[in-house]
Amino acid sequence: MHKDVKKVLVSEEEIEQRCKELGAQITQDYKELNEIPILVSLLKGSVPFLAKLMKYIELDVEIDFMDVSSYEGTESIGDVRIIKDLDRSIKGESILLVEDIVDTGRTLNSVKELLENKGCERMRIVSLLDKPSRRVVQIDADYVGFTIPNEFVIGFGLDFDEKYRNLPYVGVLKDECYQ
Ligand code: IMP
Repeated sequence: MHKDVKKVLVSEEEIEQRCKELGAQITQDYKELNEIPILVSLLKGSVPFLAKLMKYIELDVEIDFMDVSSYEGTESIGDVRIIKDLDRSIKGESILLVEDIVDTGRTLNSVKELLENKGCERMRIVSLLDKPSRRVVQIDADYVGFTIPNEFVIGFGLDFDEKYRNLPYVGVLKDECYQ
């Protein structure tokens, strides 16, 4: 375990197993819908999750990436800046948005609005982690890997100050590392 990690919340094995289950569920649901989604991954946190999850989705999916950031000092909904936009048009397409964590819900809500404005036909959300106790904006993912308590987590894509994204598990950062 990394020296800055207080405890492991979700192990590498648990992530693998859950991605397998989510992939099977997503495959089945989209087969029933007779749709093939474009997997839209939000940079940078959802990259390890996308990579693991998509192995288990048995559909001819495409992937694309988007990077957004919140404007400093604003708490309003729908107020995000696009740092990297999608490479392709999503007009009339089915989107499965891949996110690392839903916390207050602000990011997801803004991105959902953005993608709907681009004319996507249907949008679903899959998030590795969910912290429902922190929600400010009412939005939920359609598929959730793990529901976690209100703790700041790192690893498997999640960062503190851009570090720890490469850890293969999700862990809680030691308090002294915040200072
Ligand atoms: P929201 O807009 O408050 O839902 O925040 C979503 C974004 O905040 C996520 O995509 C993460 O990048 C970041 N975030 C929220 N909680 C954590 C955490 O516990 N660890 C690391 N990043 C987090």
